[in-house]
Formats: sequence, structure tokens, C-alpha cells
Amino acid sequence: MDVFDAIHRRRAVRRYLPHQIGRDDVYRILDAANWAPSAMNRQQWEFLVVTGERVREMGENFHAIAREYIQGRDSPEAPGSSPIADEELLRFALTYGGAPVVIVVLTDAADAPNMRKANLESASAAMENLLLAATALGLGTCWMTGPLQDERALRTCLRIPDDKGIVAVTPLGFPDEVPPVKPRHGPGPRAERAVGGVTSGPAGICEA
Ligand SMILES: Cc1cc2nc3c(=O)[nH]c(=O)nc-3n(C[C@H](O)[C@H](O)[C@H](O)COP(=O)(O)O)c2cc1C
Repeated sequence: MDVFDAIHRRRAVRRYLPHQIGRDDVYRILDAANWAPSAMNRQQWEFLVVTGERVREMGENFHAIAREYIQGRDSPEAPGSSPIADEELLRFALTYGGAPVVIVVLTDAADAPNMRKANLESASAAMENLLLAATALGLGTCWMTGPLQDERALRTCLRIPDDKGIVAVTPLGFPDEVPPVKPRHGPGPRAERAVGGVTSGPAGICEA
């Protein structure tokens, strides 16, 4: 699968088969993540590969966050305004969709303040590489920051020290669904503003 196929085929997968994933595949995926660009090539990221009982515990925490989020809303969400219905969210949250593995991406939070943004961006690049590599191997993922809403619980569950920042979480497993394609802006001339002869569109096309 070439990179364009992987980019177009990747979906946020929220239902997984219980099949285990080979260790080699996990290593290949993490290796791809490590090949992301990083500020000053510092590679200030770490990956926690979580399985078994810890995934169950993470699911309980995430389920509590999802429940609170749904109950705390003033009014029900307008149909289509959320990528996932409430019932589906609760089911997904409790077990991370049944994924056998959850990967947590960390960054260095103790670095100099002027490096923190760069470190977050570097770790995000690693995260995207991870997602695309998983797609190329026929595996599903879902970039998630929702579980960070109760960061304390996540830190306690996974024994993450305060000098590590939590960037994102993704389940990893064989998909048990084909999620719908979400619409995207095209790269066409949806020109929005022109600045000194340069026109920029939402997909980053710039024409002099
Ligand atoms: C920074 C970020 C945070 C996200 N957090 C969550 C999340 O907490 N829970 C979730 O179910 N999906 C989450 N998503 C997935 C998006 O909902 C999904 O990527 C988007 O709806 C587009 O769908 P697609 O990835 O299938 O194309 C997140 C995505 C990103 C990039």
C-alpha cells in the first residue's frame, strides 16, 4: 500500500475483533512512528503499549469520562454534529472498542519551555506515522484525546510520571467495522483570503 492509499484508507475505528496482534507488527508500527521528523531530531516521544488488565482499567476510566460528558450536556447533540452517537461512545469507551492493544504516546514535559510546543508537534507527527503504518498493515486505530479529560486517572493507571506529557491514545487492532468516509475539504481553489498576491486554501494550497 503506498502512502496515498494509507492516507485515504485510514479511518477512526471504534470496533475491533478480539484477535491478537503479532509482536513484529507492533514493532514495525512503532519503528514507523520513530521515523517521524522531530525538532532537532530529539525524538522526544515514548510509546506505552498497553494490553490486558490495564486496558480494562483504562476503559473504566474512559467510560466514566464519556458518561459525565453525555450527562453534563445541556441539550442532546444535534444529529450529525458529533462523529459518534452517545450509545456508541459509551460502548466504545468501556473497552476501547474491544481492541487488544492500546498505545499511549508521551512526550517530554520537563524540557525547556521553548521546546514544549516543538515536542508536542514532533510527537503528533510520530502519532500520524503510527496510524498510517497500522493502516498499511490492515490494522485499525483511532487518534483519541478524550481519555485525557481525566489525566490523573490515566497517569495513575499507567504509572506515568509528571515529567511526561500525554499526547494521545489509540486503540490498535483488527477492525470489526468499516467506518463511513467523513467528508473532507478538497484541495481545489476554495480561496478564502488573498494576502499580497498569495492565496491560501484550507488544504494548504498556496499560489503566488
Ligand atoms: C486530536 C484528535 C483527537 C481525537 N479525539 C477523539 C476521541 O477522543 N474520541 C474519538 O472517538 N475520536 C477522536 N478523534 C477522531 C476523530 O473524531 C476522527 O478522526 C474524525 O471524526 C474524522 O474521522 P476519520 O478519522 O475516520 O476520517 C480524534 C482525532 C484527533 C485528530
